[in-house]
Formats: sequence, C-alpha cells, structure tokens
Amino acid sequence: MINETTAVPAPASTPRGEPLLSVRNVSKYFPGSHSGLLGRRGTPIKAVDGVSFSVDQGQTLGLVGESGCGKSTTGRVISKLLEPTSGEIRFNGRDIAGLKPREMKSYRSEIQMIFQDPFSSLNPRHTIGTIVGAPFRIQGVKTEHGIKAEVQSMMERVGLNPEHYNRYPHEFSGGQRQRIGIARALSLRPKLIVCDEPVSALDVSVQAQVVNLLEDLQSEFGVAFVFIAHDLSVVRHIADRVAVMYLGKIMEIADRDTLYSEPLHPYTHALMSAVPVPDPRKERRRERILLTGDLPSPSNPPTGCVFHTRCQKFREELTDVQKNRCRTEVPVVTENAPGHEVYCHFPAPRAGLTDLLKTGAAT
Ligand SMILES: Nc1ncnc2c1ncn2[C@@H]1O[C@H](COP(=O)(O)OP(=O)(O)O)[C@@H](O)[C@H]1O
Ligand code: SF4
Ligand SMILES: [Mg+2]
Repeated sequence: MINETTAVPAPASTPRGEPLLSVRNVSKYFPGSHSGLLGRRGTPIKAVDGVSFSVDQGQTLGLVGESGCGKSTTGRVISKLLEPTSGEIRFNGRDIAGLKPREMKSYRSEIQMIFQDPFSSLNPRHTIGTIVGAPFRIQGVKTEHGIKAEVQSMMERVGLNPEHYNRYPHEFSGGQRQRIGIARALSLRPKLIVCDEPVSALDVSVQAQVVNLLEDLQSEFGVAFVFIAHDLSVVRHIADRVAVMYLGKIMEIADRDTLYSEPLHPYTHALMSAVPVPDPRKERRRERILLTGDLPSPSNPPTGCVFHTRCQKFREELTDVQKNRCRTEVPVVTENAPGHEVYCHFPAPRAGLTDLLKTGAAT
C-alpha cells in the first residue's frame, strides 16, 4: 500500500541542490604548432587553464575579458563543441564526459549557442524558416506543418515579422540577424544558452535592444545564459554573477552587485576603469588604470601570477618581497566573502563602477 510518506524518487533530470551547470577545474589545451627539424610538437596553447564556476537555472553568468583570454573556448567546451583536456563539467546533475549517444542528443538540445557574427553563423542559402526550424528537423520532433507554426511563433516572440519566414539572411539587418540566431537557439527550449559576444558586432543603439530581448526571453523561458563579452559594460545589466578571465584563468568571480561596487582584483580594476562613465565631471575625476604591454602568449604564460607582467599594483604599489611572491608563486583562489573568489596574493577593494554610473544624484 502506498501511503503519503512514500518517497517518490526525483527524476534524474531534476537533481536537488545542484546548480544547472557546474564547471570544475576545466582546462582546454590546444596542441602547439609543429616546430624544429624533428617535427616535435610545440608547447601547448593553454587557452583555458583550470576554470571553475557554476550557473543556476534561469540565471546569467557574465564571462568577461580581453580578446584571446579563452572565453569562446570555455563556451565551446561547455557546449561540447570541444572536449576539455581535463576537469569536470556537470550539467543538470550529470557528468557530461560520459554521456551515451542518446543522452548526448538530449544534451545538444539542452545547451545552445549564439555567436558574435550572426551572418557567418547563418547559412546564406537557407531561408529563415529552414534555419530556425533546423533544430526541430534534426531532432525529428515535429511535422513540417508543426515546424512552420513553431518557427513563426518564435519569430514573433523575438521581434521578427513571421511573414518573413521565406526570406534569406542577407535580407535582414545585423540586429535582425541576431534575432534569427536567438530564435534558432531558443527553438528547442534549451536550459542554457552560451551567448558568445552576441552584441559585439552590433551598433550601440541595437545592442541594448538585443540585450533587453535576451532578458525578456530569459524570464519567459527560464533559460540560463553564459553571456560572453569583452568589456564589463555589456554584462552589467544582464548578469547575476560575473567572472573576469585573463589568460585562460578566472581572476575574480562574484555576484554582479558585489563585483561592480567592490572589485578586488587589479585586472578587474583595470577593466572597470576602461568603462566610459556618462557624467563628464565624474569621468574627469576618475583614476585610469592602464593595462600596459600586450597579452602574453597562452603557450608561454608568465610564472607565478599570470597577470604580473601587466599588473599596475605590482608595478606601483608592492615591495620587492611582495613582487617576488607575485613572480614566483601561483595565487590560490580564495573566497574573500561568500561567493566572491579572487586569484591574487594581495587583493584589495577599490571603488567600482556602481557610484560612477549612478545618474541624477550630484556628488
Ligand atoms: N582551435 C584552436 N587551435 C589553437 N589555438 C586556439 C584555438 N582556438 C583558440 N585558440 C587560442 O586559444 C586562446 C583563447 O582563444 P579564445 O577562446 O578564442 O579567446 P576569446 O574568445 O577570449 O577571444 C587564443 O590564444 C587563441 O589563439
Ligand atoms: S598576485 Fe600580484 S601581480 Fe598578480 S594580480 Fe595580485 S598583485 Fe597583481
Ligand atoms: Mg571569443
């Protein structure tokens, strides 16, 4: 007899208490170019080097850093377009390394990607109907008639005219093409979308519209985002948490409000000081933190703290003994406050952007 206290096992797809996505110590090394007469492999390119973060259902993680720091590679590893060299990725309670082919198919529908350049990611010879409907066809989930109805309703939802179902990508503007990419990504109701610089190629005026659309769709569909951007201004509104990457590693990760009001890492300070402030008086008075020198090669990263060759604090504030520590000792990621992790031997709060970006109130 079944009584009220009989435990009903939760379906495997809804584990309790685990984040939707959990990335633990994940690295992706690419083989270096062949070199020398013996044809030996060059040193590996450490595109991603031991990153850890998690994303809850329906939440957005902003992933920010200069070009070449490993953001896209991280996104591709999560989406399983690339295999990680090491580390563990759990999605929806399961380790994705050992997925069987059938589970892999469902994983592919649960994680989608949106790319920076919507034009190059859309087949120019396919109509919007074919592009947005493709995931349905691949998964074999709907009849042609059903696909058309689904696609048109999705087109409407992302702000495209459903009558343009038979048009081709070149007939749309950049912003509209990004909407097509979003419709395609959403068409299978994924649990997570990796948005790889989705607005970087768009005009500033269109950027906000696309970010707002993504936010609306997130509340409607409960989808989580990993939102990649190269500067901190784009993710400020949309992200719940923000991770700042440099040379394949996460320098700092925190809740959005904490990161923008009290950043601890010198690299975050530098990125923040590059975000324009609308109030000219505040803009004039603020301190600029310059990032000198080029991004080192990920196949030959600096010793100790990978950021030491460009760190202003290292150059201007530290004693010789402290500098030596930065040069020789790899920082251990420490949790400064709950959920606020930083990779630096000498983290120290500095005013962030929150006050500078406040409008109205005079200071
Ligand atoms: N397929 C690849 N083969 C070799 N190196 C790669 C490959 N993809 C990316 N890289 C290198 O890995 C590093 C990180 O690249 P990427 O993840 O694209 O950075 P981001 O998206 O932050 O600009 C760069 O140095 C890049 O040149
Ligand atoms: S460990 Fe040293 S070099 Fe690295 S970020 Fe901190 S202060 Fe700068
Ligand atoms: Mg990239």
